[in-house]
Amino acid sequence: MLQLEPSGKILGATVHGLDLSMPLSADTLSLLIHALADHGVLRFPAQRLTAAQLKRFSEAFGDVQTPSGPHEAEVPEVSILSNVVEEGRNIGTPDAGRIWHTDMTYNKIVGYVNVLYGLKIPRRGDTMLGGTQFSNMVAAYRDLPEAMKHDLADAQVLFSTDKYNRAAHALSSPGGDYEAWSKNRHNREPVPHPLFLTHPVSGNKMLYCNPGYATAIEGLPKDESDAIIAFFVEHQLQEKYLYTFTWSENDVLIWDNLATIHRAIADYGPDEHRLIKRCQVMATKIFDAAFLKTVFQ
Ligand SMILES: [Fe+2]
Repeated sequence: MLQLEPSGKILGATVHGLDLSMPLSADTLSLLIHALADHGVLRFPAQRLTAAQLKRFSEAFGDVQTPSGPHEAEVPEVSILSNVVEEGRNIGTPDAGRIWHTDMTYNKIVGYVNVLYGLKIPRRGDTMLGGTQFSNMVAAYRDLPEAMKHDLADAQVLFSTDKYNRAAHALSSPGGDYEAWSKNRHNREPVPHPLFLTHPVSGNKMLYCNPGYATAIEGLPKDESDAIIAFFVEHQLQEKYLYTFTWSENDVLIWDNLATIHRAIADYGPDEHRLIKRCQVMATKIFDAAFLKTVFQ
C-alpha cells in the first residue's frame, strides 16, 4: 500500500510501498505528479532497478534527455555520475552539479523531473556523505517584494552554459585557462525563459532563476540586470528555503526542476566512492493539456 510521509521540512517526502521496477498505473503516476508538486522532492527507498527500468519509470513523466557525458552502454539515456576509477579512468562524471543550478535551463525545452538512483553512497562512520541540497522556489517567489513581482511579471531570463562552465572550471582547476579548456566544449547560445513560471500542476508561481546558468534579464541595462540577478541569488539561498537530502543506498530520488534549485554537496574524497545513475526528464508532457487532463482526472 502506497504511503506518503512528508519530511516536515520546506521540501521533501518519502514514498513507501512502491516498487519502481514495475510499470506505474495511471492512478499512481497522477498521485506521484501531485505529490511532487506539493513536496518538490520525493524519495523512494530500497529500490532494485536495472537501467532499463530506471528509464521506463522516468519516461512516465516526459521524454528523457540523452546525455553528452558518461552513460550506460545499453541504455544511453541513463547517465553515470561517479568518482569511481576503473582501469585508470573515471566510470562516470566525477564532480557534477556542485554549483547551485537547475538542470536543462539552458535548453529550449526546460527540465521537469530529475531521477537519481543512488547505488554507492560515501560514508564516514555513521555519517552519510555526498548529499543533495535543494532550495524551494515557490517559497522564494512568495517572499519577493510585491513591487518586484509586478515590475518583472513578464521578464525573461537568459540562461547560459558558458556561465556555468566558467564557474565549474574555476572550482576544478583554480587559476586554469578557461578559454583554452572551453575551446573543445560546445557552449550553447543563451536561451530565454520566463523569470516567474507558473507551475502546471500546483498553479503556484515560482522564481525560475538559478545561480549556475542565469546570466541576464532580457532588455535591461547590464548593471541593472546584474544587480537583480545578484539579489535573486542572495534571496534564494537563504537558510529558510533550504532542504538537505541525505542519501541511503538504493534510494531513488526525484525532484521538480521547475520548483527547486539544487547542488551536490562535495564533502567526500576521491577514495570515498559515490555512484549515482540518472535520467533527466524534459518538460515535454507536463505543459501539454491532454497529459494534464490525465493527471487531474
Ligand atoms: Fe543538477
